[in-house]
Amino acid sequence: MSSTKHTITTPNKNINKAKHATPPNVITLPQTTQLEALYTIIRDKNTSRGDFIFYTDRIIRLLVEEGLNHLPVIPRTVETPTGATYNGVGFEGRICGVSILRAGEAMEAGLREVCRSDEETAQPKLFYAKFPQDIASRYVLLLDPMLATGGSAMKAVEVIMAEGVPEERIIFVNLISAPEGLRSFCTRFPNVRVITGCVDEGLNEKAYIIPGLGDFGERSSSMS
Ligand code: URA
Repeated sequence: MSSTKHTITTPNKNINKAKHATPPNVITLPQTTQLEALYTIIRDKNTSRGDFIFYTDRIIRLLVEEGLNHLPVIPRTVETPTGATYNGVGFEGRICGVSILRAGEAMEAGLREVCRSDEETAQPKLFYAKFPQDIASRYVLLLDPMLATGGSAMKAVEVIMAEGVPEERIIFVNLISAPEGLRSFCTRFPNVRVITGCVDEGLNEKAYIIPGLGDFGERSSSMS
């Protein structure tokens, strides 16, 4: 009797799980087949700039949504149009997005899509070197797509903490991380929560993440 070998793919089953033991403050997105398909597109060197931006935006949106899941909520009661009372929750504090130049800027759109604009200016609250005066009382979503050695992310956290933001109020959102950078970052800041989409194998001699996706800035910039 002959047999044919089929490759069966199971939708929505977690794959590619826990390749590395991650520090306790790291939250990795559920490794679904959808997520794996998105990463395959953005890692492909033949993917066009337009597709790269479209698909990284999709993953960034999932990351930001996951980041928001880690913000504290307090009870909030509302009345529905039927006159009934609904006992729900509301976010406890305000948030502030901080992107690390330049690649972090590419993550701002994902944050804008899920966080309501500031009412006075109709602009999302995104700050660069100039932080809002009340930053010390906010939750900070720090955005940087590639965590390689962790140097720039650690510098950014230092700067944010110098403004009076406690570690516990900082959530670092990142697309791909290298285990070396993740270890350094988490050893230095064990109370910053890190939301990452994928922990890759490691760094090459030029400090690029392997397998990675190459230079994020180059792939998303109009020069490529
Ligand atoms: N920054 C990038 O854009 N890519 C890497 O692999 C590492 C840092």
